[in-house]
Amino acid sequence: MQNFIDPQIQADSRGRLTIVEFKNLPWVPQRAYFLSHSDPKSSRGSHAHKELHQYFISLRGQWTLRLFDGTEWTEIEIIEGGAGLLIEPGLWREISTDAEDAVLGVFASQPYFESDYIRDIDEFIEWKAS
Ligand code: TYD
Repeated sequence: MQNFIDPQIQADSRGRLTIVEFKNLPWVPQRAYFLSHSDPKSSRGSHAHKELHQYFISLRGQWTLRLFDGTEWTEIEIIEGGAGLLIEPGLWREISTDAEDAVLGVFASQPYFESDYIRDIDEFIEWKAS
């Protein structure tokens, strides 16, 4: 359901180089997006995907992902320089950070399709039970 994959990191006096080789992921990304300038008082996400696989990697700061499989909530922290989180479809997620300058990279297995989203948690619970 969820798993960690380390990026390759090359750090020296010039800074940090974070490398994601797509051959190290179980699927080939078709889309990437980046969360930044976050409001520490709010969270993003609050949806589930029916088919989309994703890989989340912190490029700056610490991020909290609260995941719900329809029965149990799990809270996972990912940090800059640490492992990235791979998640399968069928998980409700809420994503937040305490730091306005935090940056999260997200790699996704499919292009953006609004039809792949479930944005209502009761609908999600029903979908999981069906
Ligand atoms: P939203 O789903 O609210 O983002 P988050 O899950 O991070 O809270 O997306 C905000 C808007 O951006 C919404 O109109 C959909 C659009 N969007 C795209 O067009 N392409 C994308 O790849 C993503 C992630 C969102």
